[in-house]
Amino acid sequence: MSGIQAKIVVLGGDGIGPEVAGEAARVLDAVAQRFGHRFTFEEHLIGGAAIDATQSALPQAAIEACSSADAVLLGAVGGPKWSDPNATVRPEQGLLALRKALGVFANLRPVTLHPALLDASPIKAEVLRGTDIMVVRELTGGIYFGEKRRTADSASDLCTYTVEEIERVARVAGRLAMGRRKHVVSVDKANVLETSRLWRSTVEAVLSREFPEVTLEHMLVDAAAMHLIRRPASFDVLLTENMFGDILTDEASMLAGSMGMLPSASLGAGTLGLYEPIHGSAPDIAGQGIANPYGTILSAAMLLRHSLNLPAEAQAVERAVARAVDEGVRPADIAAGGPAAGTREAGEAVIRQIMQ
Ligand code: IPM
Ligand code: MG
Repeated sequence: MSGIQAKIVVLGGDGIGPEVAGEAARVLDAVAQRFGHRFTFEEHLIGGAAIDATQSALPQAAIEACSSADAVLLGAVGGPKWSDPNATVRPEQGLLALRKALGVFANLRPVTLHPALLDASPIKAEVLRGTDIMVVRELTGGIYFGEKRRTADSASDLCTYTVEEIERVARVAGRLAMGRRKHVVSVDKANVLETSRLWRSTVEAVLSREFPEVTLEHMLVDAAAMHLIRRPASFDVLLTENMFGDILTDEASMLAGSMGMLPSASLGAGTLGLYEPIHGSAPDIAGQGIANPYGTILSAAMLLRHSLNLPAEAQAVERAVARAVDEGVRPADIAAGGPAAGTREAGEAVIRQIMQ
């Protein structure tokens, strides 16, 4: 077997982050064993844990380690301990700074449904059936990164986009659509926002010029929020700016039954990527060993596919998660009243499937 070598930085972060990232790292270790690769793991601090230890939400050592890694696996950041509105440094700043430092402008959030979990969603099974969406969220621009101002009685957050920022993420959506059902819905608020009007015309230009086979549809964000629930199976690739994508993917996660199931990959110009579940740090259940690690494990599958170019290994992990769910190994959020599996137990079930 001709294996590859890779350095993976693991940023556990806060709350359930270290627990779910730990299981995903163990799964990657099992993949390395099973397929003859050599993965080395290096742990670093981010978020509240980093603030406690270093006063910074993203220490320089973590930035340097991530920049020189092949891929970064992240748990979650944030928690009540650090959410004082008057605090000058917040855990989320670490995550935003990391995305910016790594230049990972395209955030891929696939929404796929496990057939056995149709009943875990609050949406009717007949509406859900056939749902398979790839959300492409712009990740390093927009209102998240614009100038912020605060006076005693007013505040503002600037939303800016450049043509180049829109073009490069539109290209990612076009490329993904070509490997799928060749349909892109681009989300904006062009009836109100200037940035959205630029978004609309730029996406239009890139797709018609570079992906003439792809059908492009524009949809206002409020309508998109409605149609996601009304007819989720009609979406293929959903392209959004930063904040709209943040909001719509929490909504879309309910189609899959739980936020705990959804992975994400954040990619830039090269192969280095940042992989994290879309859920937060869930401080209410942290440290109890009951969090669902599947979203993070599926993020590790995306890491294998996008950063390490190991598609067969990625698929093996995805199949292993599906089989573990089939076997009935379901953490509390998807247990639907049945017995709930712990975090470690779910990780073990996936590893067992991989090693078979
Ligand atoms: C996400 C999260 C983050 C975001 C937070 C933690 C800053 O909600 O990845 O969706 O808003 O991007
Ligand atoms: Mg979010």
